[in-house]
Amino acid sequence: MSQVDFPNWMVEIQARVEKTLSRCLPGADIAPARLHAAMRYSVLGGGKRVRPLLAFAAGEVASADPARVEHAACAVELIHAYSLVHDDLPCMDDDSVRRGKPTTHMEYDEATALLVGDSLQSLAFAVLAEARLTDEPAAQFEMLALLARASGSRGMAGGQAIDFAAVGQQLTIEELEHMHIHKTGALIRAAVLLGASCGRLPPAEREALDRFGKCTGLLFQIVDDILDAEADTATLGKTAGKDATQNKPTYVSILGVTRAREMANELRAQALAALDPIGSRARRLAELSHYIVARQF
Ligand code: IPE
Ligand code: IPE
Ligand code: MG
Ligand code: MG
Ligand code: MG
Repeated sequence: MSQVDFPNWMVEIQARVEKTLSRCLPGADIAPARLHAAMRYSVLGGGKRVRPLLAFAAGEVASADPARVEHAACAVELIHAYSLVHDDLPCMDDDSVRRGKPTTHMEYDEATALLVGDSLQSLAFAVLAEARLTDEPAAQFEMLALLARASGSRGMAGGQAIDFAAVGQQLTIEELEHMHIHKTGALIRAAVLLGASCGRLPPAEREALDRFGKCTGLLFQIVDDILDAEADTATLGKTAGKDATQNKPTYVSILGVTRAREMANELRAQALAALDPIGSRARRLAELSHYIVARQF
């Protein structure tokens, strides 16, 4: 196992992901050039790449070839980037800043932003289908199905629909958890499983990773809610305080910051407990759960 410390490992994977994403995105000079330029604008040069990092870390648990994992990691990141472009549209959260620069519809136009999302989603599935990622083809079909389920109306897009319907509503904590598990949790959980799918794991360990992914997905959105309330726009690279302005129910609006922080810590403990049976092979996943709680943006 790699002896590189966590910050260096993270930088190494982020650079690798950036390169692979750049390679799989059509060049900005290829027609339709404006759409391709906007796709590259929306994906490259920003973002923490948490989902790819989770895929690589889970791949390490399953002794997967990183050359396979990088395709799965990029497929999830492309879906995530598409979800951000659409999330920022005027008909959704109406945001003007993302990853420290103007949102795609501000830099280009709304129609282009819509098509960027459509195209990134299709590209994600092309990336996942075109390279050989597993020894058995059936396992790769299952990966495609897994990403499709996590992205669609029973996953991320469905969670976004719940989010949209919840504006101005007083949700119970169970309803809020349901929303977060879908809009953000589904893709994070999928990132972990897709990374693992590129290698081999006994069923009990795969289940352990799935439990880790489920806790981490909810944890990630709780911290996002906290940062929206506590951090500033310059640090976040996106407009701070939007949830309160837009009257969105969040862990902060319902529980307050202190209790939301406690929930994040409890979920991290649950995520780490899920990794227990795996031992030291899960080191990167454990480090990522600490990073997700401690992050400043
Ligand atoms: C922001 O995700 C949107 C959520 C799903 C919470 P990230 O915090 O992972 O955004 P980037 O990719 O680092 O910009
Ligand atoms: C976004 O949740 C979830 C997505 C599926 C994109 P938010 O609306 O809270 O994400 P940010 O805060 O704009 O990044
Ligand atoms: Mg949103
Ligand atoms: Mg938003
Ligand atoms: Mg948010």
